[in-house]
This record gives sequence, C-alpha cells and structure tokens, in this order.
Amino acid sequence: MDAAALKTEAARAALAHVEDGMKLGIGTGSTAEAFVRLLAEKVAGGLAIIGVPTSERTAALCRELGVRLASLDEEPRLDLTIDGADEVGPGLVLVKGGGGALLREKIVAAASRRMIVIADESKKVETVGRFPLPIEVNEFGLRATIAAIESAAGALGLSGPLAIRQAGGKAFVTDGGHQIVDASFGRIPDPRALSSALLSIPGVVEHGLFIDLADLAILAGPSGITELHSNR
Ligand code: A5P
Repeated sequence: MDAAALKTEAARAALAHVEDGMKLGIGTGSTAEAFVRLLAEKVAGGLAIIGVPTSERTAALCRELGVRLASLDEEPRLDLTIDGADEVGPGLVLVKGGGGALLREKIVAAASRRMIVIADESKKVETVGRFPLPIEVNEFGLRATIAAIESAAGALGLSGPLAIRQAGGKAFVTDGGHQIVDASFGRIPDPRALSSALLSIPGVVEHGLFIDLADLAILAGPSGITELHSNR
C-alpha cells in the first residue's frame, strides 16, 4: 500500500467516530483531505454534520463536495476535530503546520471536546523534531523575532537553521496573514519547555507543537490500523 492509500485507511477508521448531528472540526493537509472525501460520501448518503474548517483550502474542498460548513464564531464549541499531523510523538504530542494551517488548526482543536489525529504510521516518532517545527510569526520585526527564537531555543540546548517558508518565490503567507519560520532543531526532548519559551516571544503568534490536545491517534500501516490513546 502506498502512503496515499494508508492515509485513506486512517481517515476511514476515523470516520467511524463521526456521529449524526456532530459539530466537527475539519483539518488541513493530504490526510485530512482524504477524510473530507470520505465524509462527503457519508453526507451525500444522509449524514448530517456541521463542519468547521481549519483553512481556506479545506473550506473550498468541503464546499465543492457539499459538506455543510459553519465558522467557529457560529459554532464555538465542537464535538470532535479530525486532523492530520507531521509527527506523532509520545503522549500524543504532535508537530503540525507542514501545510501552514497550524494557527487555525490549534484554535479549532482547542475548541473541540475531542481531537483525533490521523496519519500513516511513518509519522510516529520516539522524540519529536525530525520534521522542522513550524512557528507562525508576525511579519513586523521578523528579524528580531527570529533572533529571539534562536536565543530561547539555545537556552534549552536547541539549535539549527531557521528558514522563512517560501512559496512561489516569496514568503509564504498563512490564512491569518502571518509568515512561518521552519525551525530545524532536531530532537526536542522537552516540547513543553520549548512551547512555553516560544509563546513568551511577542512576535510568535503560535507554534506547531500540539500538546494535550489529541485524544486518539489513528495510524495506518501495511499491517493495519494502530490506535494510540492519550492519558489525559
Ligand atoms: C497542516 O498545516 C498540517 O498541520 C497538516 O495537518 C500536516 O502537515 C499533515 O499533513 P499531511 O496529512 O499532508 O501529511
């Protein structure tokens, strides 16, 4: 099975957790897209849900496929969010934001009673940090913010290249109008400490470490589905 097929299998398993009448946060990325496609089939068959998308990209796909949407302002409390991840670490600490939607993804996940993360099993890691950590930053004072990130990370024994994400020859801009710094720190042994340190920097809007947000990870591999539960 290739990665795309595994993503679809994880998405299919997550669909079993979706119930009629739910208010559902809908993630961003290729795995979330596989989920939207399966969800849309269920909706066409009569399943009634209201989706709150985590990006303009996901919103557009949902509209195209006939999935009813609301904004988070219209539906501020959600039953369940289903989203992908770039890494799934111990304790269901996630790295997210490879698709640039981490801010809305985190806001939507935090507004949800439960979060299920779906991925192919290659995303599971023993220590997060293999994937560069996306950090969403305000454009104002970008150089000062990058220097502050370097200094905060250095105090925790972390270092590595910090790259301003590019798209089409210019800086990538998020749905919220911010930029993303991809931080290649390598292994992050204490994600909580890094999270606090980053959030104390004024120019940092949010970062891609998702801690205490996911309840269940559904990972698809060649030998089937593995479920990882959080202890919270
Ligand atoms: C989007 O910003 C990300 O958080 C995605 O959820 C993450 O990058 C996983 O994407 P894939 O499902 O495409 O691997």
